[in-house]
Amino acid sequence: MENFSFQNATKIIFGRETEKQVGKETTEFSNKVLLHYGGGSIKKYGVYDKIINSLNEAGVEVIELGGVQPNPRLSLVKEGIEICRKKDIDFILAVGGGSVIDSAKAIAVGVPYEGDVWDFYMGKKEVKEALPIGVVLTIPAAGSESSVGSVITKEEGEYKRSIGSNLIRPKFAILNPEITFTLPDYQTACGAADIMAHIMERYFTNTDNVDLTDRLCEGTLKTIIKNIPIILDESKNYEARSEVMWASTIAHNGLLGTGRIEDWASHDIEHEISGIYDVAHGAGLATVFPAWMKYVYKENMNKFIQFAIRVWNVEFDFDNPERTALEGIQRTKDFFSSIGLPVTLEEMDISDDRVEEMAEKCTENGPVGNFKKLNKGDVLSIYKLAK
Ligand code: NZQ
Ligand code: ZN
Repeated sequence: MENFSFQNATKIIFGRETEKQVGKETTEFSNKVLLHYGGGSIKKYGVYDKIINSLNEAGVEVIELGGVQPNPRLSLVKEGIEICRKKDIDFILAVGGGSVIDSAKAIAVGVPYEGDVWDFYMGKKEVKEALPIGVVLTIPAAGSESSVGSVITKEEGEYKRSIGSNLIRPKFAILNPEITFTLPDYQTACGAADIMAHIMERYFTNTDNVDLTDRLCEGTLKTIIKNIPIILDESKNYEARSEVMWASTIAHNGLLGTGRIEDWASHDIEHEISGIYDVAHGAGLATVFPAWMKYVYKENMNKFIQFAIRVWNVEFDFDNPERTALEGIQRTKDFFSSIGLPVTLEEMDISDDRVEEMAEKCTENGPVGNFKKLNKGDVLSIYKLAK
């Protein structure tokens, strides 16, 4: 096991009707907020009214900025920074999914910084200060509600880039599984792929003696594999929605990566896809991850055999252990297909005419990944395997 330090200060408030507590939680930090949200689902399904009521009851002044798009854009982040400066706002409340939360985090680091907020995303500046943010989560997927990450797309040049800092972990995250009843099946499935990917990016490591976190990863993966089909059958199943919602936070709050060298190549490879083609991040991962697995499994076949046996209940093939590893990869891909996700670029209507450019951009700061270090040629091969 590697040395590590782990601190996650996000207060999780979980359960039915918990969004009614948002006003009270907010007043711990401020009496004036920027309420940040997406394209309208919260208004359509009544979440917005409940949030406004709770904030009003607590005497919180609300300034709104909606319109965050999936794969959130830098231009709206800049608008948010201007509003916060002009109106002297010192707390941001994100009501939505990863896109809204990431946009809120970008605003939070941009307000106290005099330069261009994109500097952080290009790795030119380190985050030293950020406004506090709070979250009411509406889709379990990205794990941004308690993660160190924020991923933003700069329209010019189609760059999708991320930052990571403990300073942008939300102060609180309210998780009511009932709010996720209205998710379309496709978004539920995309969320599942993202949650699984966050676990697998940590699971596939060459660090030895990580029994505890291996088992935590396997348990969290199995929870998703069991409960997503239940939800797709019955969208208002509170218990299954609860399991998935909590799993999404656990998958990406840092705990499962403790003591391990994590990988993250599949995410880097995927971000080039959603950065250019504006597809859902989870769908992109469902195509990239199995291809990445096929490309790298020989680096540490035992890890893939363990994955196949423990996560997918594959029987060990004594005559041909490699077949066990390959069966685990196949079952991962089949699961993504079975829940309605694309598993090839073609199924997302993406041709391979820009893969060279994507592989170039993906590796412009050096090789990606750790399980196997991947250079431009490797990344290109993975895009071709995902074709
Ligand atoms: O915009 P609205 O109208 O609200 O609709 C959203 C959006 O279209 C809809 N939705 C959300 N909650 C709903 C709902 N529809 C009905 N009922 C509800 N309760 O779902 C759509 C997708 O929302 P989005 O926020 O884009 O989804 P997700 O949470 O998957 O976030 C994806 C973004 O997070 C980034 C991704 O790259 C992507 O940009 N990630 C962020 C990470 C982080 N900060 O730690 C890590 C991840 O790996 C990921 O990269
Ligand atoms: Zn992700």
